[in-house]
Amino acid sequence: MRQLKKLIKGEMGRDIIWLSVIDSTNSFATELAEKGASHGTAVIADCQTKGRGRMGRNWISPPGDNIYMSVILTPSMRLKEATLLTIMAGVACCGALRNTTGLPVEIRWPNDLMVSHKKLGGILTEIKSGGEKIVYAVTGIGINVNTKVEEFPPEVGMIATSVRIEKGKTESRTFLMAEILNEMDLWYRVFAQRRKDTLLNEWRRLTSMMGKPVQVTMGDKVINGLAYDIDDEGMLIVKLASGSLRRISSGDLVVLR
Ligand code: BTN
Repeated sequence: MRQLKKLIKGEMGRDIIWLSVIDSTNSFATELAEKGASHGTAVIADCQTKGRGRMGRNWISPPGDNIYMSVILTPSMRLKEATLLTIMAGVACCGALRNTTGLPVEIRWPNDLMVSHKKLGGILTEIKSGGEKIVYAVTGIGINVNTKVEEFPPEVGMIATSVRIEKGKTESRTFLMAEILNEMDLWYRVFAQRRKDTLLNEWRRLTSMMGKPVQVTMGDKVINGLAYDIDDEGMLIVKLASGSLRRISSGDLVVLR
């Protein structure tokens, strides 16, 4: 923890709350945000008993191995632009993972961190809004760092991986967390300065899914098409067989290879 603090360069992670066990770092960070915790406060846990993923899924969070971290953000922006926060966090995490581990990590829309076609991590951004504006956001980051193959339940092992599995050796969680917070500091400033194009172009550079056939599931609706681009609000644009373009704000995406 003291070592992590020393590695922090900007406002992300200037205040850090370290917990050994918590239900969910996102829930804890939300309580802190309600009490007025400052922008950039990070909540880190060694283990979560009710880690949450997107779409109401569980996020398996055993102790000792991985990163479970939530960062409180208080951007002055419209609710409409909220997806850009996830885009910003995805760019930061992907860059940090590439710099620290050397692995060819990629982003899969909207927020999956992928390597070898398997999921290495994910991001869950939860927003409190007032009218059209964001009051605060909690960006939760889960990364499988040192999980061994045999520690994943078999059905999860088919679709998930860890830095250790990919590299064949363990990785320091502290360095990786520091790099994520420092990259977030950099990319949050790009975002706050309204340099949307710089952020979106970096996101495009870190994905290889554009032009590929994809299937997006949104509740009971399924859309098939070619991944075409992301728009300036971070929505995915899919080109349908008819040639028309469809904008998608959220959903579960599979790249069909
Ligand atoms: C996803 O489904 O891909 C998003 C997973 C996000 C998991 C992280 S772990 C830290 C934070 N606390 C939670 O309960 N969830 C997020």
